[in-house]
Order: sequence, then C-alpha cells, then structure tokens
Amino acid sequence: MSESPVRPVSTEAITLVSPNVPQAAMVGVPFRYDASKQGTAFSDPRRTGLTYVVTFAGPANGLAASGGEIAGVPITPGLQTVAVTARDTTGQVASQQFAIVVFGADLTTPTMPAVAYGYSDARVPLPRHFTEPTPVGGLALAADNTPAVNRTTDAGAALGRVLFYDPRLSVDDRVSCASCHVQQFAFSDSARLSRGVRGARTARHSMGLVNARFYATGRFFWDERAASLEALVLQPIQDPAEMALSLDALVTKLSLTSYYPALFTGAFGSPEITTDRVARALAQFTRSLVSTNAKIDRAFGSNGVPNFAAVFTAEEQLGQELFVGRAGCARCHGTAAHISDAVHNTGLDATITDAGAGNGRFKAPSLRNVAARAVHA
Ligand code: HEC
Ligand code: HEC
Repeated sequence: MSESPVRPVSTEAITLVSPNVPQAAMVGVPFRYDASKQGTAFSDPRRTGLTYVVTFAGPANGLAASGGEIAGVPITPGLQTVAVTARDTTGQVASQQFAIVVFGADLTTPTMPAVAYGYSDARVPLPRHFTEPTPVGGLALAADNTPAVNRTTDAGAALGRVLFYDPRLSVDDRVSCASCHVQQFAFSDSARLSRGVRGARTARHSMGLVNARFYATGRFFWDERAASLEALVLQPIQDPAEMALSLDALVTKLSLTSYYPALFTGAFGSPEITTDRVARALAQFTRSLVSTNAKIDRAFGSNGVPNFAAVFTAEEQLGQELFVGRAGCARCHGTAAHISDAVHNTGLDATITDAGAGNGRFKAPSLRNVAARAVHA
C-alpha cells in the first residue's frame, strides 16, 4: 500500500523572514522599491507561492503599487506608512508596515570642518568676570544651568549645531530652529510672531538664546513652563505651530541621512539616534551661545578688573552706573552676562493679557545683543 499523494493541509502561518526597513525618497526624483524583496520578504511553509499587495496609509503622494512593487515620483515631503501583505493560495495572509520618507528636493548635506570647532569650556574658557565676583554684581557662573549629566563637549555641540540648522527636523523639511532663532537677530526673530510649518504663527515672540546657559532656576520659555533646556528643545519639534514632527518620525528621518550616524558616534560613542541624544546635543549647542566679546567685556580686560572709562563713552558710562545703581536694572538683569534672576511682572500691562508664569510674570533673556533683537515686521 502506498501513501496518499495528497499533502496534509498545514496550519503553519506565513512568516516574515526579511522585514522591510525605512526607505528614503526625494520629491521630484523617480522612486522604485520592491517590498516583496523578489518574493523573499515572507516565507510560506506550504510553498504554494505568495502574492504581494502594497497599500498606503493616507495619500499615495505620487507613488503607486503593483503587487509588491512601489514606483512613482513623490510630490511633497513627508513620511508615508506603507503596508505590505503576502497571501498564499489557501488564503493565509501576513503583513508588515514600514515607512517611506520623502525628503524635500532642496536639502543640503552639512560640510563639517576637518578639525572640530571649540564649544566646550576646555576649548573656549569663560572670561574671569563670568567666573569670579566683579563690581557689576553677581556671578554668571553661579547661574549655570548645565546639568552634570550633559556637559557641553565639542562633538556634542557640533552635532547640536547641525540639528539646529536642519529643516529635516520639521514635518515639511522647511523650518529649522534657525528659522525662528536667527543668528543675525541674536538668535531671536525680527518678526513679532514667528512663522512655523504651513504658515502657522507662534503665540509669543521668539526668545533670544544668547547666554541661555546662565539662568539659575534652569527653567525655560517666557513663562518657565519647561523644567530644563533638555526638556524644552524637543517641544518646538513636536509643536503643531512650529515644526509639527513626531519624535518617532524624527528618529526615522535622521537615521536615513548619510551624515547623522557618524555625528552621533562622535558625540555619544555609538551611531544610535535617540530623542534623548537629540535633546542633549541641541541643549549643548544652545548653551554654547555665550556672549563674551562685547564692549563691556573689553572693559574687564584679562585680569577681571573693569576699567569702563577705557572703553565706554561718557554717556555709556553714565548708563552703566545707572544700570547697576539708581535705576535698579541690575536687580533683575544681573551679572556681567546681564542675565535674569527669576520671573517678574514689569508692570507694562495695566490689564494682564498673558498671565505668563502667573500674574503677568515673565522670564527675560540675557540683555546681551539686545540691539540686534529689534522687531522689524
Ligand atoms: C516657529 C518658530 C520656532 C521654532 C522653529 C523654534 N523656536 Fe524656539 N522659541 C520660539 C518661541 C516663540 C519661543 C518662546 C515661546 C514661549 O515662551 O511661549 C521660543 C523659545 C525657545 C527657548 C527658550 C529660551 C529661554 O531662555 O527660556 C529655547 C531654548 C528655544 N526656543 C530653542 C529652540 C530650539 C533648540 C529649536 C529647534 C529644535 C527651536 N527653538 C525652534 C520659536 C521657535
Ligand atoms: C523687576 C525686575 C526688572 C527690572 C528692575 C528691570 N527689568 Fe528689564 N525686564 C524684566 C523682565 C521680566 C523682562 C521680560 C519682558 C517682559 O516681561 O516684559 C524685561 C525685559 C527687558 C528688556 C527687553 C529684553 C528683550 O529680550 O526684548 C530690556 C531691554 C530691559 N528689560 C532693560 C531694562 C533696563 C534698562 C532696566 C532698568 C532701567 C530694567 N530692564 C529693569 C525685568 C526687569
């Protein structure tokens, strides 16, 4: 007696043997990808042959699918979630999702200097009048909000600087931190309210970032709602009126670039891109924006003893005396770095229209470079 030639029906499911990983595409550039991986993405225990179907979650954005093949010319920047499904002749199915990131066409790759720039205190020491008491009152260094776990390193701040200027941190690849924190305007904005993605406007004026390192409470934003700089820097990325990008999409996008893995290795010792590392690097770069070469710094020379008459005009010198003396400005804008001590209500609004940190109290950025921060539009 020979056995029946009919194979028993297997109950084994189709398995995913070779998952699709995120794919990069570019607006206007023909894109083609085989999500079936020549029919090897999934394995079928019955070997009856698999058919593949690809579907897009949301708009296809210029792409079309035929079987497991995706092809087309992407139209707008963004992240598309794609599902690929494998089906065998008995009707068993299995599926997997992956992302296609469509990058904007006009993005550039940063050119890094052969020798890293100096950002750390070791390479760029703070002047003596920031680190030792002076007659202008208070010590900038005493208000340093750098956490022990995130000291600024040259490689960390260099990565932070690339992130700061990279519009890939926004959903449409158009807005970077530097769109609203413009170096020319002391890292604030010449517009009263800043423009975020898709024409959105911020609710408040952009804050100047110079000397943000020195603020003793360590809290950030006009109303101090961020508990630390590390906590703040991920908020504009996700804010729908600013960059409107989810943190998952952020990590996927950065991982698909040619240059971030090496920059993360330089800064943190391995190429892994995490939101925590993004936050630490952005905070390091922000803290490296310290103003130490203004006229008032030149008055201190290298020995920390000021000679205002040597650098200031008579009017400037009178202003300096009023500022630290009778006018009382230095009570709130203290130290040689002209930083704030806490939130205050300056009494400018007869009726409070924005409660800020409560009762119309606000934080002020350092007054350094205030002349460059004028609102022009
Ligand atoms: C669309 C404009 C916009 C973008 C983009 C933007 N910011 Fe801001 N930023 C603002 C505005 C407006 C505020 C003040 C908001 C408030 O206090 O309510 C602010 C405040 C800040 C502060 C607080 C400073 C302080 O002394 O408390 C920091 C730090 C900062 N931004 C860093 C960044 C970083 C880093 C990025 C990029 C990841 C970024 N910003 C992207 C507009 C923007
Ligand atoms: C009681 C604390 C306090 C005193 C005293 C004070 N300020 Fe201010 N100042 C603030 C606060 C808080 C802000 C933040 C903006 C706001 O709330 O209007 C500010 C904002 C400013 C700004 C604008 C900064 C920016 O980024 O746009 C300047 C300039 C300024 N102060 C200069 C002075 C001068 C000059 C004096 C002395 C005549 C003075 N302040 C006295 C608390 C004070």
